[in-house]
Formats: sequence, structure tokens, C-alpha cells
Amino acid sequence: MSEIKATNITWHEGDLKRDERWKSLKCNGATLWFTGLSASGKSTIASALEQVLVTQGVNCYRLDGDNVRHGLNKNLGFSAEDRAENIRRIGEVAKLFADAGAVALTSFISPYRADRDLCRTLHADTKLPFYEVYVDTPLEVCEQRDPKGLYKKARAGEIKGFTGIDDPYEAPEKPELVLKTADHSVEECVQQCIDFLAKQGVVSVRR
Ligand code: ADX
Repeated sequence: MSEIKATNITWHEGDLKRDERWKSLKCNGATLWFTGLSASGKSTIASALEQVLVTQGVNCYRLDGDNVRHGLNKNLGFSAEDRAENIRRIGEVAKLFADAGAVALTSFISPYRADRDLCRTLHADTKLPFYEVYVDTPLEVCEQRDPKGLYKKARAGEIKGFTGIDDPYEAPEKPELVLKTADHSVEECVQQCIDFLAKQGVVSVRR
């Protein structure tokens, strides 16, 4: 689904350079890519992080799996092919937000390594920072939380191809950051993200 079908199209470079934009807007774009099982805490941490960053004046925008599937990606399901396309589109959208100078926070299960690697490459090709954040919460903990009752349904066979139950999750091999939500509070995980972003020079705020 990712080949270019259109013909006779030419890339048009704008007059404004990225560094001119970032300098003028006093911002640094980057993508923080949260990956992990359903109910691992991706959306909760991304949402709390967004709140802290925006309050401190950082231009930050969150893209969330469940939400994006209500709009941009509402024509996609959970087959491997659809998940790949879901992630590819989000990789492209996050790249645009980052290029515009925002800290893009994406919270998608993104279970396949190859799909996440593609997003990393999309960013690298255009020299935008991409950081993979592995929300490393054991399946047992996610299943116990089960905020939407989906694990229960998956165990009962009412949902087929549910990640972690009868569909794979490929953990990142070299994530830039690992968050252990079973051992740390949401606030602690948010602080770990902020410390990381500060260390990378993306933001200068500290809580
Ligand atoms: S991804 O695999 O393509 O990255 P995404 O993050 O967009 O998934 O959506 C995951 C959310 O969709 C879950 O948090 C859950 O609420 C819902 N969901 C519904 N069906 C499934 C399924 N088969 N596997 C995983 N999540 C599902």
C-alpha cells in the first residue's frame, strides 16, 4: 500500500528552511514513539507527558492508536497488513509534526519491528530525531488491568488476533528508553521521558 501510484509529481522544496522555522518558533521537533502491549500504559503516559510539556510551553502533540482509528485510519483493521499501514501513516504524520517543530508523541501498539523500523527510517531520511520508547509492561499486568475488557474477550475467543494473546508483539531490540510501568508510577515514567528529552536537547524544561 506504500508504493507511489501517482505519476508526474515533483517534490517542491519550500523557501523556508527547517532550522529557520525552528529558530523563529523557538522549538525543536522530534518524535517519541511509544510502543507496547494494549493496556501497557502508552496512552496514559503520553497524555500526562503532553500535559506537562505543553504547560511548560513546549509545542507537543499526541497521536493515539484508538483515536486515530476513529478518523485518518478508520478504514484499517488489525490484520498484519492493516497494522503495517496504520503505523506507516502515523510515521508519516509524526514526521510532519516533528518537521513543523512539535514533539510528536505516538502511542500505538506497533507490534511489528519492521513497521517501527520503517518509521525510524522515514525520520532518519529527513534528519529528524526519532526515539523509540518501549513501555515494557508484562502481559500478566496488562491483562489484569484490562481497562476495556478486551483481554477477557480475546481469551473467550470473542476477539481474534489480539496482540499478546493470539497475535505477536515483537519487543524493541534497542529502544532509546524503557519504561517499566509495573514498577514506576505514571509521574515517574513522565519524569523519565522529560529527563530523556532534556538530555537529547529536545526540551530544556524540568519538572
Ligand atoms: S496497532 O497494532 O495497529 O499498532 P493500535 O495501537 O492502532 O494497534 O490500536 C490498538 C487498540 O485497538 C488497542 O488498545 C485496543 O483498544 C484496540 N484493539 C481492537 N482490536 C485489537 C486487536 N486485535 N489487537 C490489538 N488491539 C486491538
